[in-house]
Amino acid sequence: MSGDPRRRGFLFGRPPTGPESARELQRLPDWQQSDPKWIKTAVRRAMALPAGGWHVIDAARAIGERPRQYRIDDRELVVWRGAERLLAAPNACPHLGASLADGRVRDGCLVCPWHGLVLGERGHAGWRVLPSYDDGVLLWVRLDGVEQPSAKPFLCARPARGIDAVVRMEAACEPEDVIANRLDPWHGAHFHPHSFGRLRVIERTADSIVVRVTYRATRRLGVEVDARFDCPDPRTIVMTIVDGEGAGSVVETHATPVAPGRSAIVEATVATSDRFGFRLARRAAGLVRRGMLRRAHRLWVEDAAYAERRYALRTGTV
Ligand code: FES
Ligand SMILES: [Fe+2]
Repeated sequence: MSGDPRRRGFLFGRPPTGPESARELQRLPDWQQSDPKWIKTAVRRAMALPAGGWHVIDAARAIGERPRQYRIDDRELVVWRGAERLLAAPNACPHLGASLADGRVRDGCLVCPWHGLVLGERGHAGWRVLPSYDDGVLLWVRLDGVEQPSAKPFLCARPARGIDAVVRMEAACEPEDVIANRLDPWHGAHFHPHSFGRLRVIERTADSIVVRVTYRATRRLGVEVDARFDCPDPRTIVMTIVDGEGAGSVVETHATPVAPGRSAIVEATVATSDRFGFRLARRAAGLVRRGMLRRAHRLWVEDAAYAERRYALRTGTV
């Protein structure tokens, strides 16, 4: 898409107020700024962070009346609405192994579809509910045995009042490929010209990046913000708008291993603004959420292709 809204169109909204630093790095073309060594080191540092065994399953609102099956780290789980909270457990019935996700929920308990065994929080014959955590937007499960467990997932700060939208898709890659994609923001304006006008990295440390980016609303209309990327755990990268319109909004990208060479990308956008229009938008949250999801999905189809390509290259399967 031609026509950077910043140059050949209009910017709207409150712009970022900080200066664009004129570091030497920024004078280089994007392909030189996007330093494979820096990305590799930043990915390695992220991979060394603790995660406490916690994995994002899906949006909390994705769990409805019926139980749902998920595969996480090569384990088959069933997730359902218990009497008081969302619950997760192994999907195999402890009697003869039926898929509990094919059963139904009665009074907050699972009813096995084969012989009617009722299973709930109290467990049965070695079958136990797993530790789970509903953070209000996303549902997490803790899988013990590999990582040092923590009481809760390592959550990032979210705006107190926001509109959230969650997109989930799977890709043929591992979580580190998803994180590596996000630790290369330099691809943004080249690879997603429909969504980004101009994108410059204005700050870079060993673990985080701040970009000044023009998001396109239309071909010639955009909004410019400063956004910081950092990793609170090895399977999450968070983009926080730190200056400009919508400051405080976050996009959390969670990469959950599904099976060897396969990951789920669960991305939660929690948008906020102190504008009056946004208060109205919160009332029409369903509509706004659909627009946010369309946009996030389009971006992730492309970024999943990037992550899959990286995985194929590093595992020698291209
Ligand atoms: S397999 Fe579930 S009750 Fe028999
Ligand atoms: Fe991207």
